[in-house]
Amino acid sequence: MKSVRKILVTNALPYANGPIHMGHLLGYIQADIWVRAMRAMGHDVTYVCADDAHGTAIMLRAEANGISPEQQIANVQKEHERDFAGFGISFDHYDSTHSDTNKSRSQEIYLKNRDADNIAIRPVTQLFDPEKQMFLSDRFIKGTCPKCKSPDQYGDSCEVCGTTYNATELIDPRSTLSGATPVEKSSDHYFFKLPNFSEYLQKWTRDEGRLPVSIANKLDEWFEAGLADWDISRDAPYFGFEIPDAPNKYFYVWVDAPIGYMSSFENYIKTKRPDLNFDDYWKKDSKNEVYHFIGKDIVYFHALFWPAMLEGANYRTPTGLFVNGFLTVNGQKMSKSRGTFIKAETYLEHLNPEYLRYYFASKLSDKVEDSDLNLDDFIQKVNSDLVGKVVNIASRCAKFINKDFNNTLSANCVESDLVQSFIDAGDSIAKAYEEREFSAAIREIMALADRANQYIDEKKPWALAKQEGQEQQVHEVCSVGINLFRQLAIYLAPVLPTLANQVQAFLQLDRFDFASRKQILISHEIAQFQPLMQRVDPKAVAAMVDASKDSLAAAAETPKVEKKKDKRAEKKVEPKVGEAEIIGIEDFMKVDLRVAQVLEAAIVDGSDKLLQLTLDVGEAEPRNVFSGIREFYQPEDLKGKLVVMVANLAPRKMRFGISNGMVLAAGNGEGVWVISPESGAKAGDKVS
Ligand code: MSP
Ligand code: ZN
Repeated sequence: MKSVRKILVTNALPYANGPIHMGHLLGYIQADIWVRAMRAMGHDVTYVCADDAHGTAIMLRAEANGISPEQQIANVQKEHERDFAGFGISFDHYDSTHSDTNKSRSQEIYLKNRDADNIAIRPVTQLFDPEKQMFLSDRFIKGTCPKCKSPDQYGDSCEVCGTTYNATELIDPRSTLSGATPVEKSSDHYFFKLPNFSEYLQKWTRDEGRLPVSIANKLDEWFEAGLADWDISRDAPYFGFEIPDAPNKYFYVWVDAPIGYMSSFENYIKTKRPDLNFDDYWKKDSKNEVYHFIGKDIVYFHALFWPAMLEGANYRTPTGLFVNGFLTVNGQKMSKSRGTFIKAETYLEHLNPEYLRYYFASKLSDKVEDSDLNLDDFIQKVNSDLVGKVVNIASRCAKFINKDFNNTLSANCVESDLVQSFIDAGDSIAKAYEEREFSAAIREIMALADRANQYIDEKKPWALAKQEGQEQQVHEVCSVGINLFRQLAIYLAPVLPTLANQVQAFLQLDRFDFASRKQILISHEIAQFQPLMQRVDPKAVAAMVDASKDSLAAAAETPKVEKKKDKRAEKKVEPKVGEAEIIGIEDFMKVDLRVAQVLEAAIVDGSDKLLQLTLDVGEAEPRNVFSGIREFYQPEDLKGKLVVMVANLAPRKMRFGISNGMVLAAGNGEGVWVISPESGAKAGDKVS
């Protein structure tokens, strides 16, 4: 008997400023399959997550939405929890990094590090937006590349020539937040002295099982280059936790984000599981295991800063990091214009979540490799494997048991060797799951499914049923078929939990864990067979892609040069604000921007993208405008609202009528927000 392992599993904490999409789901589904498999093997697994609620991006997003950051993160958390539940992600607890527990834990870890002399303070000169009265990170500064002189480059690196530089080196820099010319300004920053942990980390990252080897090799490059102090403070205004004894200084979001793993677990104990003990999992010599599932873009934070902070505060470090590669859709980066930036919510409106869980499982291994969601392959694979092979076995056999044998399986198993070979295969399938070799597990399971179908094809119960005196054989063959099917359903349960529940109910079984499979079902009563899974309808996939198409974003998408990755790991926290060509004031003056009031807003029959707006622009006649904001606004939200429109756009003939102008909205790839002037403005006012 293997001993029961006590394991804490986490997923990366998604940012509270945008919706969950297919790319995110790769890592969440991967972790969930592992958690479910380990539970099915009898291990004691606790699985927690939280929203990552802090940082400039979230602060600005809330500002743009006209709500408080607290309201912003509460709204998004609700959506995230809904989406994860929709995909069957079995978190025991879902929290937020903006919690009291996380605040005190973050401050404690910081203070312990400060006591251990791991914190330094020194002034840093940064660009400051005099209008917004805030320091600007590189993402919020654009200017001309000092090397190749390309205009409109971000503050960290040039997308044209690939040079990395400091924002202060840009020619003609400007703030993307206000357009103001930033000024240099100095302030004290708090640093975590990462070099204190150089030796420790070099060993830590090479410990058995800690990291995928490819990642450990990559980290060696960083060690060779030498570790630098890590800037952990941000000046107000910032949405986050204040640093103790440092007025107006806040922890950089990446300080309290991973501490969210601990505090989410702590809140789980407090609210739901008083029998668990925090120290059992987090004290230095804990024998329990802690694993973080993360995407490859956030390795730097998890393999260097995080273990160093924990070590510095005398806590245990994670047993291991499980790293997933990136997801592409149809071979390319997810794209709004192609409709391949598919939100979890949109997927769930069109397709069964188990299809995606299966497809991802069939692709995933323990390697840090990128995966592609090819939608044609997706349809083909799900239909041929799950519907054509697996579910088919049950539907072929169950009807005879239900109809002719009083819902009861035969009293003997005539193919005990065959059934036993299915049971035996469970050991290597379980091992594959445990090692996160899901694609190997799926291959084995599908090979078994092929054998089961072969058996039924050979015995042809449907033909036997038509012959005199063959009842017993029909009964026996179908009973074998049901036993084989039950083995497959148990093996697929970590991937297809809903299907597994249906099968468990259909077979009237108390248990459905891996060990329970060893009991062959004899004279066992089953329930009436119900259809288990429909084929993927290619039309539903097309509709999902269509619903994901964002005409507003299409124009904004321009191909970009791949950027240097290492530096970006640290930068990715900040959103991109957009790419645009520099124009002169004369060009800008050509655009007639005006305040308009929404008199009517209506759903457009036959379009799930458009709303039809009737706008008062201060002219004799109201204007008719079609706006691609249906996904983000209800008509009633817009009625009476003041908006800004381009009044001199050439009329456009659309399928539904003529659109006479364009309403301005902010869009960042994850949402769309209509731009609205402060109250006081009137319909027809000029905007400049
Ligand atoms: N908030 C941080 C994580 C903090 S953990 C203490 C963050 N959030 S995120 O929302 O940007 O990403 C959440 C997870 O999704 C990360 O593991 C990230 O790597 C992963 N992915 C985001 N886009 C992805 C793809 N296109 N493909 C695969 N994984 C992707 O990072
Ligand atoms: Zn350049």
